[in-house]
Amino acid sequence: MSDRIHTLSGYLHEYQKSVAQPEEFWARIADSFHWRKRWDKTLKWNFEGPDVKWFLNGKLNITENIFERYLFTIGDRPAIIWEPNDPNEAGRTLTYRELFEEVSRFSNALKSKGIGKGDKVIIYMPMVPEAAVAMLACARIGAIHSVVFAGFSSNALADRINDCEAKAVLTSDGNFRGSKKIAVKAVVDEALTKSSVETVIVYQRTHQDVTMQDGRDYWWHDVVADESKDCPAEEMDSEDMLFILYTSGSTGKPKGVVHTTGGYMVYSKYSFENVFQYSPGDVYWCTADVGWITGHSYIVYGPLLAGATTIMFEGVPTFPDCGRFWAIVEKYKVNQFYTAPTAIRALQAYGTVEIEKYDLSSLKVLGSVGEPINEEAWHWYHTHIGKNKCPIVDTWWQTETGGIMVSPIAGITPTKPAYATLPLPGVQLCIVDPEGNELTGNSVEGNLCIKFPWPSMIRTTYGDHDRCKQTYFSTYKGMYFTGDGVKRDHDGYYRILGRVDDVINVSGHRMGTAEVENAINEHPKVIESAVVGYPHDVKGQGIYAYVICDLTNRTEDNLVNEIKEMVSKIIGPIAKPDKIQLVPGLPKTRSGKIMRRILRKVAENNLDNMGDTSTLLDPDVVEKIIDGRK
Ligand code: PRX
Repeated sequence: MSDRIHTLSGYLHEYQKSVAQPEEFWARIADSFHWRKRWDKTLKWNFEGPDVKWFLNGKLNITENIFERYLFTIGDRPAIIWEPNDPNEAGRTLTYRELFEEVSRFSNALKSKGIGKGDKVIIYMPMVPEAAVAMLACARIGAIHSVVFAGFSSNALADRINDCEAKAVLTSDGNFRGSKKIAVKAVVDEALTKSSVETVIVYQRTHQDVTMQDGRDYWWHDVVADESKDCPAEEMDSEDMLFILYTSGSTGKPKGVVHTTGGYMVYSKYSFENVFQYSPGDVYWCTADVGWITGHSYIVYGPLLAGATTIMFEGVPTFPDCGRFWAIVEKYKVNQFYTAPTAIRALQAYGTVEIEKYDLSSLKVLGSVGEPINEEAWHWYHTHIGKNKCPIVDTWWQTETGGIMVSPIAGITPTKPAYATLPLPGVQLCIVDPEGNELTGNSVEGNLCIKFPWPSMIRTTYGDHDRCKQTYFSTYKGMYFTGDGVKRDHDGYYRILGRVDDVINVSGHRMGTAEVENAINEHPKVIESAVVGYPHDVKGQGIYAYVICDLTNRTEDNLVNEIKEMVSKIIGPIAKPDKIQLVPGLPKTRSGKIMRRILRKVAENNLDNMGDTSTLLDPDVVEKIIDGRK
């Protein structure tokens, strides 16, 4: 494989080529894919619009690069291995041929319901192979999928259905998660009282009772029953939308990040193969959920485009006990294992007894994603899971980048604990000071930007291009601003320091402070609130909410619990504040702006250096907040 990096000098050489001649570099990589019609021009771009197009006028279907490409060579190779929530239930393996047949049948079913090219389809499903089948079937027929994490509330789901004007929702009756059985279809029903779609298709997983609405709701097994196992792929343009994925930002409303077909395909496969050094026959496992970008790029698209065997796990790391991950590694002889620091820290707390029960000798590469990995967790992962022989790839990237941007190449780039190390070929990083001046040389710290386009980058925010421009391309002229702080050390290695905007990273999940505040403010007794992140031993960051309430006829404990429930109902349990402090006021400037810097310091219990509080409208409020901490 010509686009595989095998040595450190090979990486450096490829990196230099990718910067000196980016178009030639990516054209070479893209040439190894199947295009119905090759592109005319590799790249056209400006970051002012922004207007970025890759592989212009190229015609293709991404699923032909999975199925037609592999059926006759590796059709019998496992494509997806599914491990259910309950270890006593039989798992499933779908070979490339079987996956193709499932995707075709479901593609035909979608078409028979009038869904076709350009239609938006919401996928709100648990981690079952059908979730991947649903994504690929959309891609096969040119429909645009938008996967919504099945832990989101009906309100959050309704917002997304409305925002992308979805024509259909694909869901399940229920969901098994640890010892719980969770209603899923009922949440969809609730969401559809605030939004509408023509069709709902329900995969039967838990066999719990659900309400089916005549003429709108259909069972998955019924709609595929008579469909053909072959469905010709729709011809797509390189820049046709492949999917929309909603993510949180600084403002209250999540935005729909748009990814397009050609560039995303090229980058997800290229980055997957290189970062993880996947070899044919390896078994790869990413523990993410398909509701997040990691699931899109590194459970479904990247691995399948590379002809890999990818594991999908329905359950949680601690069910039936905290050895579950390691039991799965042993069971399937996993070679590459990719998880989040929050899972590592959570399992670290249980000690090593449950690890030592299992044979982890198949492991070759360990990955980390979603948040900074602290040195202690890095060493624990390296020692106890990797047995000091597996390189750790600490992969920095974002929903908007579509694929891994900064990461070691496994076994090739020398690693350093807590460092994402070096950019992948094609990724031109830039560190800027608050005024936007580039900080050159090593041993510098600032805000992380990217100054040249890469194939899988965000094209727009759905339905609001100006928002894309304002959020990512306006802070620093001519650059994509990531929202992260970063340090480049004396070796030129990158260490991500975390968000510098109003985004909190809770267990690797992005949460906008304004989004949580809006949910809190829905409670009738709440007058005003301010939310900040604070360091949390397991989650990385926890959510700390300062709330001004009308306490008439209410107790504090009561209100705090009600507010938590409110947030859970409006966004989902992942957004529930860890701490709520009822306060008499908030520190505001004379112009009415909340000084979050002060609130962050109080939440961090870092009271020594509060900075200048004299410009506050009511400086006494800070003392009252400090005194009121529990
Ligand atoms: O702050 C960075 C953090 O997660 C943010 C992106 O979140 P999301 O779009 O949900 O995507 C997560 C999975 C790719 C980033 O802005 N982040 C992600 N990976 C790392 C990280 N922070 C430090 N180190 C990482 N490896």
